Amino acid sequence: KAPASLRAPADLYGASRRNSAGFDLSDEQTLARINALRDVAMPDVAPLTVSQPAGTVQDVLNPATGDRLAGVMMADAPTVARAIDDARPWDLPAAERAAVLRRAADLYEENFGPIFGILAREAGKTLPDAVAELREAADFLRYYAAEGETNPGAARGIVGAISPWNFPLAIFTGQIAAALMAGNAVIAKPAEATPVIADLGVKLLHRAGVPLSALQLLPGRGSVIGAALTADSRVKGVVFTGSTATAKTIARTIAATLAPGTPLIAETGGLNAMIVDSTALPEQAVRDIVNGAFRSAGQRCSALRCLYVQEDIAGHVIPMIQGAMDELVLGDPWDLATDVGPVIDASARDAIAGYIAANASRVIHSLEVPAQGTFIPPTMLRVGGIADLEREIFGPVLHVATFRGDELDRVVADINARGFGLTFGLHTRIDSRVQAVSDAIHVGNIYVNRNQIGAVVGSQPFGGEGLSGTGPKAGGPRYLPRFFASAVPGEAG
Ligand code: NAD
Ligand code: ALA
Repeated sequence: KAPASLRAPADLYGASRRNSAGFDLSDEQTLARINALRDVAMPDVAPLTVSQPAGTVQDVLNPATGDRLAGVMMADAPTVARAIDDARPWDLPAAERAAVLRRAADLYEENFGPIFGILAREAGKTLPDAVAELREAADFLRYYAAEGETNPGAARGIVGAISPWNFPLAIFTGQIAAALMAGNAVIAKPAEATPVIADLGVKLLHRAGVPLSALQLLPGRGSVIGAALTADSRVKGVVFTGSTATAKTIARTIAATLAPGTPLIAETGGLNAMIVDSTALPEQAVRDIVNGAFRSAGQRCSALRCLYVQEDIAGHVIPMIQGAMDELVLGDPWDLATDVGPVIDASARDAIAGYIAANASRVIHSLEVPAQGTFIPPTMLRVGGIADLEREIFGPVLHVATFRGDELDRVVADINARGFGLTFGLHTRIDSRVQAVSDAIHVGNIYVNRNQIGAVVGSQPFGGEGLSGTGPKAGGPRYLPRFFASAVPGEAG
């Protein structure tokens, strides 16, 4: 039996609340259904607002090919002000709101073809990642619906929801679902790179029954829309997921301009570590290292960034990681054989490539990349420890350090000293070490003898501490109450 501190919270989801079934990609009929629907038209998109929006049109690009996919009207600052004028809290009994969110979850699942097609082309998602993303989005809708039905509360008013491109449907939907389920009016600002999937998500929510005045969508620049939204004192709460730097900017804006006590939920980046000791099963550890560092092209906040391998087994494990890396297939996200797709855009590619070039003398292993598109070679770099990592590199770059058996406490202290606290992985077969390291490490999510990505709504609430976020954890029971008027500002979760 796992020690109390390591057990999953008891049946968070409840017996009648199932996670989304997803899609079995090993089933030929399922694949045929997906393939028949994947070539959806990519519509031009514009803000979805009560009043006529205004702004300038820019291109949405496919990161794998650089092709233009669609146009997006990027809202201007006056459009934000009008959306705030027009926003109306969603005044319905909690059970009726829950029914609408559940209907939206069903609509999301029914629209799997366009959702997968847009996620692959706009965000460069591989098909397994697109399936996981759709499941997570539907799970958020159903989970917060159930939570809000059993624990209703009073709305705050208008909530600004600002999301990243790396989970452009799941995180985008999760923020909106919780804020709406609490009865608030939501103004959602998707990331610049992924307005088309946001447009589809909001249209499905509207089709399910959410009124336009309760949910408006404002594609646009963070520095324009995000800044205007977070500086308007009529906005009574901000939920943000993105980089630590942007969270700090928003926190300063809120402190300067909004009413005292206006809550900011910020889920941010990480310098996530894994420790593999000499008792670990190498094959299992290597599979989890490669998945954690390179799946989704390393573009997950939860991804493994700094691996510590005990030196007794490093000479065995590091070549195994190289061997596993050599098996990774880079290419078209739509090809089921593909393990690693492109990074999100040319500027991300150039920044990550520049980092690898600047650290060329530390490269242990790297792969070839397709000539076309924004691909980055999965790369392993040698470092002395986590202190050598200047910042989060948001791509397929794994840093590897070794440690002696008597240095474990020092390694844990070094990880804590870095100040981030999102995910942490431990591979060991020593039970007492699991407990001791779990007690000592300061992170939101600890994974033992598995990879550290892919938290499941309802059973693995997800979120960090320190520079990685304010809490409460998304997909857990403390998240929704923060959107109620009675929430205590700053309450951790
Ligand atoms: P980002 O901070 O650049 O952008 C996030 C959002 O903030 C975007 O919608 C952007 O337009 C907006 N924004 C930018 N400037 C703003 C401003 N001044 N005011 C208000 N909004 C502004 O992050 P990104 O590149 O889109 O996403 C990647 C980052 O997100 C990584 O650091 C990753 O670790 C983090 N992330 C964290 C989690 C988590 O749950 N902890 C999940 C996913 C991603
Ligand atoms: N919730 C996402 C994961 O766990 C970010 O990978």
